[in-house]
Amino acid sequence: MKLIYKKIPPNDYLNYRSLRLESLKLNPEAFESDYEEALTEPQLHFEKIIKKDDASKFVTGAYFEGELVGICAFVDYNNHDVISAGTLIQMYVTPKFRGNNICFNLIDTVTHYVLNIPHIDKIMLEVKETNHSAVKVYKKMDFNFLASDSMSNTLIMIKNIFVDHLYSN
Ligand SMILES: CC(C)(COP(=O)(O)OP(=O)(O)OC[C@H]1O[C@@H](n2cnc3c(N)ncnc32)[C@H](O)[C@@H]1OP(=O)(O)O)[C@@H](O)C(=O)NCCC(=O)NCCS
Repeated sequence: MKLIYKKIPPNDYLNYRSLRLESLKLNPEAFESDYEEALTEPQLHFEKIIKKDDASKFVTGAYFEGELVGICAFVDYNNHDVISAGTLIQMYVTPKFRGNNICFNLIDTVTHYVLNIPHIDKIMLEVKETNHSAVKVYKKMDFNFLASDSMSNTLIMIKNIFVDHLYSN
């Protein structure tokens, strides 16, 4: 299966919107945002970011025959006061395409872009403890457990991209 991974270009913001809304509708347990609320928003937060074509905040996409089938966003800040760490969010692969390492390759693509952001050397993410397929991929990609929030059953994971990059060369 030939897939193309890249930053979602500005003119593709509507395809992002449609896949993001699908993610909130089909897998509400994986995300904090609410589907019905998002539906009423004329422009989602990351639609604006995609249109801006920013180097430090972006959404990557997996494309199969021109169709967007997976998304993963990144911002160059985090909510946990960790210095020089950005956050990976909104990971989603449409059900028909799951089990093809798309999640793995989306993270790899995000990492590739993040290596060029001078003030970032770590990537963080939050995932529900019960989301076993997501946790499995994150562990496989060397994200380490940092902390957990028992109130929301959320794990916080982190990866130092430069250490991994040096070892892999
Ligand atoms: C979590 C998610 C992104 C994984 O994407 P993916 O591209 O299917 O990931 P992978 O192909 O690397 O598969 C990950 C594991 O899930 C399993 N899996 C999940 N769904 C599957 C399916 N429909 N068919 C086959 N395997 C599946 C696989 O066994 C695989 O384990 P393996 O490495 O032992 O083969 C995807 O399931 C998804 O979008 N889930 C809903 C949203 C979500 O949970 N996002 C994460 C928020 S933190």
